[in-house]
Amino acid sequence: MSDSAVTPDTSPGRFRNLSSRLLLLTVAFVMLAEVLIWTPSVARYRKTLIEDRIDRAYLSMLALNSLPETELNQDLENKLLQQTDALAIILNTPTRRMLMSAGDMPPAVDLMVDLRTESFWSLIMEAFDTLGQTESRVIRAVGMPGNDPDATVEVLFDETGLRTAMLDFSWRIFTLSLFISLITAALVFVSLQWLIVRPIRRMAAGMARFRENPEDETRILKPMPRSDEIGTAQMELAEMQRQVHGALKQKNRLAALGAAVAKINHDLRNTLATAVLVSDKLQYIEDPEVKRVTPRLMKAIDRAIDLCSQTLNYASEDVLALRPRSFCLRDLIEETEANLESSGGQTRVVWEIDVDPDAEIVADRRHLLRALHNVCDNAIKAGSDKLTVSAEISDDRIVIEIADNGPGLSDKARENLFKPFAGSSRKGGTGLGLVIVRDVVSAHGGDISLLYSGPDGTAFRIIIPSDISPHPVALARGDTNKVA
Ligand SMILES: Nc1ncnc2c1ncn2[C@@H]1O[C@H](COP(=O)(O)OP(=O)(O)OP(=O)(O)O)[C@@H](O)[C@H]1O
Ligand SMILES: [Mg+2]
Repeated sequence: MSDSAVTPDTSPGRFRNLSSRLLLLTVAFVMLAEVLIWTPSVARYRKTLIEDRIDRAYLSMLALNSLPETELNQDLENKLLQQTDALAIILNTPTRRMLMSAGDMPPAVDLMVDLRTESFWSLIMEAFDTLGQTESRVIRAVGMPGNDPDATVEVLFDETGLRTAMLDFSWRIFTLSLFISLITAALVFVSLQWLIVRPIRRMAAGMARFRENPEDETRILKPMPRSDEIGTAQMELAEMQRQVHGALKQKNRLAALGAAVAKINHDLRNTLATAVLVSDKLQYIEDPEVKRVTPRLMKAIDRAIDLCSQTLNYASEDVLALRPRSFCLRDLIEETEANLESSGGQTRVVWEIDVDPDAEIVADRRHLLRALHNVCDNAIKAGSDKLTVSAEISDDRIVIEIADNGPGLSDKARENLFKPFAGSSRKGGTGLGLVIVRDVVSAHGGDISLLYSGPDGTAFRIIIPSDISPHPVALARGDTNKVA
């Protein structure tokens, strides 16, 4: 994707964007890792410092021991102690015990450190203890010098020097860690920025551009040639945008076609109305051939007018305005029966109505009548001679079931159920009847579903909530098949 393709600024504020967060997190994690490394290091460093003192103390004792008795004096001992940085030294060997002290008596001891028995954890605890001290303490450290395993040396020294060395060590580690973490963070930042943040930002900007005008084909994202997850995401996004763009284009084309069909229908209906008037006169002609074909001609024209009207109605009804009121459901079903009877051709149909005659429901009576008419009309036109209409009315919903003993839905009707113009498998059918039923039921906040269909008959179930909204409801014109 080119940079020029990215116009809208979709970046969030400073420190809230991905890059800044990654930068801060990287610094924090590297520092945390350094703290974890520093803790045992500083404990070990303290131990090394004490061992070093013990070794030096041992060497001082050896030096003292090698001198003749006559040369020994307090000044010399003080000098040796100063060089060893000790207040007193005691050397224990299997044969003798020697003391070297600045005064007659060694100073009082505040803390005893026996390196021979120290564990990892006790070293860590003591290191923290030393770092946390504010007053100087005298430590008595006991250990074995490196080059004489038989000897034991005890050194008394002031803890201040030890603490200062440890603080220096910690400061060095801290500055080094900071340096490492900044370098690492910068590297991680740059690579993440390059690999993830920039492509994601471009994708977000590409989405925003596409959203502004999905009909503009040039706004479809051009995926980068990457084989990783980001590349896949970009490819999928581009594909999705292509599909949305295509669907929109097709919808617009269909809308234009629909408008044209509506205009043609309108004019055709008027022309057909004139044809009805003219053909009415044919019945007065005595010619037997004219008499024979006239009813068929009239029927064909009626069917054509019906088709035009239905299509026009469907195209113009974008919003179904409900006018709910309370009425008797059984009366409505009986009216449907009467209407279908009067429209002729179904004298043999037996109606079984299992609905409480006192039950009142709240709905749009006119629309519901139309919906029931369409469902029952289908059953009769399919060849059923028995229709069972039952209803259950509870506090929260009304369930109406319409069952027939017809031949069942054809495969085409079943596959395209509720799809406008597509589901009709009946000669002269428009394929709008069930779509209208579904629209009416949806506008009431309800649902229609096919309960069953087979050679023994078909049943539909309509469910409408008891408390329907009195506001206009947009028609749901999806292509969903609804099969219970
Ligand atoms: N009870 C039923 N028994 C058998 N087939 C049915 C039944 N109800 C619907 N169908 C089938 O479903 C198709 C679609 O019905 P729909 O009412 O949507 O359209 P139509 O009846 O063909 O046309 P119209 O728009 O004039 O009603 C019908 O053509 C019919 O084949
Ligand atoms: Mg129908």
